Amino acid sequence: MLATLCQRNIQRDGRRLGIGKEHFVKVTHPVKEQRIRVTALDLQILRHHRRDCAVARAQILPPGFRRRPYKTDTAGKSAKSASTQAVCNVILATGSNSEATLAIYNFGSINIDHFYRVPHFPAPGETLAAENYVVGLGGKGANQSAAAAKAGATTYHIGGIGPESDWIVTRLAEWGVKTRHIARIEMATGHAIINVDKTGENTIVLFAGANRAMPFSLIESALAEAMAGDTLLLQNETAHQAEAARLARTLGLHVTYSAAPFDVSAVRAILPHITLLALNAVEADQLCRALNTTLDSLDVPEILVTRGAEGAEWRDRTGQRAFANAHKVTAVDTTGAGDTFLGYFAAGRDMGLTPAAALTRAGAAASLKVTRPGTADAIPRAAEVDSFLAQ
Ligand SMILES: Nc1ncnc2c1ncn2[C@@H]1O[C@H](COP(=O)(O)OP(=O)(O)O)[C@@H](O)[C@H]1O
Ligand SMILES: [Mg+2]
Repeated sequence: MLATLCQRNIQRDGRRLGIGKEHFVKVTHPVKEQRIRVTALDLQILRHHRRDCAVARAQILPPGFRRRPYKTDTAGKSAKSASTQAVCNVILATGSNSEATLAIYNFGSINIDHFYRVPHFPAPGETLAAENYVVGLGGKGANQSAAAAKAGATTYHIGGIGPESDWIVTRLAEWGVKTRHIARIEMATGHAIINVDKTGENTIVLFAGANRAMPFSLIESALAEAMAGDTLLLQNETAHQAEAARLARTLGLHVTYSAAPFDVSAVRAILPHITLLALNAVEADQLCRALNTTLDSLDVPEILVTRGAEGAEWRDRTGQRAFANAHKVTAVDTTGAGDTFLGYFAAGRDMGLTPAAALTRAGAAASLKVTRPGTADAIPRAAEVDSFLAQ
């Protein structure tokens, strides 16, 4: 249930902010007017955002939602504050007159991929001149943020980069990713040195850098702005995954986890705290073997399995299923296919599509991606996906 919180009414609350005090904001509900109790934090957020939004909005949380209690006061009397941590009931949508939108928070890796074309791989002690050098933006996190934003979802990337990496923030922002939760820290940006020889074979040296070094407080401050119903995306290329998932669940977020790169202990730790587990076919096999189980007996609300050219399937705990065929295309580069799929799927769900419709759109986006070389750059935008689906 969404209600519009008018700017006019925010301004009417002319009191100065005092942390710990409560303020009232008048909410214009589609059918009735209510006063909801908001905290000083809510108002700070409102005021912070009002600079770039025409209409602020409030979400009235569903009855029975306990973590972020709200109280309405239809009589208009001041209610006594129970506590100052009482809650971000008030959220904002930027842009004018748009419906309040849910958002995706992607706590994910950012990598710089350095590709060197070499005549052969260097032997111990050898100094070798590379014949060509190309740099690209990668990392499962950055790819998924790019996909979700290109798909049209409000997408915040939470992550860390080191010095001289501002171009990454610029590029993500060009794709529509909101970048203010990307921190600059005293650690090299995660990167890969990829040597590619004449036959196309490669060797890779990977340094996780800032992806594993970023502090947990980064996630806490980003999620302080999230609201129930938003989505947290996670992959296995960062620190703090299970803690981030646990925090997000306490805030009422959906939590989607890509078990990639696959590591059974990472999956084990996070499994109790996620709502959707995303796997490719290889990871699904690895997981079932490692836990000696089947996908159907895994105790997760939703599971998504992508199967390359064979498409993808989704199932939930209640037995609902959906399936999407992959499109018949000439694949030239399948890197980032899974990330494109998941970013689009999460965006589709976030924007209110059914699982089946979200799968269809994600399948089209991923199939289109594999026809193009590159990763995040090569992820198609929503308009391209729509016209591909219309063909
Ligand atoms: N050869 C292909 N032809 C068409 N679509 C593909 C192909 N490979 C991947 N895709 C699309 O990308 C999705 C993800 O691919 P998959 O290989 O399962 O993930 P990952 O990149 O994690 O290995 C598939 O579900 C499909 O929609
Ligand atoms: Mg694959």
